[in-house]
Amino acid sequence: MSGGPKILVVIGTRPEAIKLFPVVHLLRASPHAETEVCVTAQHREMLDQVLAFADIVPEHDLDLMQSGQSLESLSARILLEVSAVLRKARPDRVIVQGDTTTAMASALAAFYHRIPVSHVEAGLRSGDLLSPWPEEANRKIIGQIADQHFAPTPRAAKALGLEGISRGRIFTTGNTVVDALLAARRKIATDPRWGNRKAAFATMTGSRRTILTTCHRRENFGQGVESVADALTEIAARDDVHILVPVHPNPNVSDIFRGRLHGHPRISLLPPLDYVDFVSALDHADLVLTDSGGVQEEAPALGKPVLVLRDNTERPEAVEAGTALLVGTDRPMIVEQTNRLLDDETHYNAMATAHNPFGDGFASERILGALLNDRRVSNREYSWAGVHWTPNGSADSSPRPQGDRRRYQRGGDVVDHGWLDEYQGARP
Ligand code: UD1
Ligand code: UDP
Repeated sequence: MSGGPKILVVIGTRPEAIKLFPVVHLLRASPHAETEVCVTAQHREMLDQVLAFADIVPEHDLDLMQSGQSLESLSARILLEVSAVLRKARPDRVIVQGDTTTAMASALAAFYHRIPVSHVEAGLRSGDLLSPWPEEANRKIIGQIADQHFAPTPRAAKALGLEGISRGRIFTTGNTVVDALLAARRKIATDPRWGNRKAAFATMTGSRRTILTTCHRRENFGQGVESVADALTEIAARDDVHILVPVHPNPNVSDIFRGRLHGHPRISLLPPLDYVDFVSALDHADLVLTDSGGVQEEAPALGKPVLVLRDNTERPEAVEAGTALLVGTDRPMIVEQTNRLLDDETHYNAMATAHNPFGDGFASERILGALLNDRRVSNREYSWAGVHWTPNGSADSSPRPQGDRRRYQRGGDVVDHGWLDEYQGARP
């Protein structure tokens, strides 16, 4: 039992679990906070995969997922059930991540109970309320409710400032997805239980060029998903490629992919992969076709060109850096741009430059600093991609500070966050 604030971390889906487990580990290791985890289980198997990898046993499991769930019924059930947890647990603060129904409805529940909300991955905006749908609206709603906004990039921090949120409430932290990715790579390298499956993917694809594809966005359901599936068939007509497709279990996606792609000799339809396995697949792939938010952030970090199966993105940093290209769901466009990457070595090499505009692996540490009101950590400057950023988002070319970044002192105590130590070796 700690004397610090009681913090409830709410998690619903796979990407929330991936991007919050590094924060949960640090919170749980801190003597200055009492932490409970509530999973709505908006996702079930895909969430459980990450919880198992991250060794997180939630204090509250609402087990809400229903097959083919509608947005309105899911939202209503989360609002009611998370409210019941808030009444019982009586936290001082609630943390939500991203832009899912869980994040939005849990923030609303906290607001109705007058409990302050911290938003991890705040400030992403596509500028189009209908794309991604309903996520763009979810993020804006959370932005209005939260009193602490953890922006992953200076651009996201700026977007929040332009919406009138005061600077003192915005912390530019980097994206915790990089912290998670480094943890996964460390596991792959060191833990035999999660041994490197790259070899298994290599056996699957042989010497062919490997394309890794994921697709699940609601605004792409129907014609968009069909068009992506048809593009994959056309690309797989080449006998020098093999396409790996971990299929999202949403029936709106899986029915179309199974119906159109099943049995193709150069397309492997796979179940959702464990996070570490997905990272191995990403490592093995030559290029990535995806409409996923998280994958758009991870692939550039591993130097994999990304074709984004969307018309716009709230993560333009990778596009600006030249490692991602928006191709939408138009079949000819997907095929043309994929063939160009496969056939034009200069173009491929230009996009495959390892570059990571999304974080330096210390985002969770900065978030902890802000949560515990430790300015030495939350204001820690950071640099990546050759640019040195100050926490308020301004760029600076002075050299990055040196020192032991794994530990910090608060109130005279050394806070030792085991997981960070464990994957320190994998840091850039
Ligand atoms: C949700 C989020 C989306 C996020 C995505 C990550 C919303 C509105 N959408 O979309 O922002 O990018 O998660 O993947 O919050 N299913 C299973 N098992 C699982 C997970 C899902 O069977 O472990 C099936 C169920 O039939 C479920 C359906 O997928 O009803 C849809 O799940 P849901 O969370 O509503 O939407 P996603 O498309 O996964
Ligand atoms: N991912 C995974 N297994 C898979 C596919 C993806 O673990 O089979 C991971 C991926 O590494 C990324 C996250 O899931 O971190 C992205 O989740 P998703 O695409 O479902 O959601 P989004 O990021 O679009 O919200």
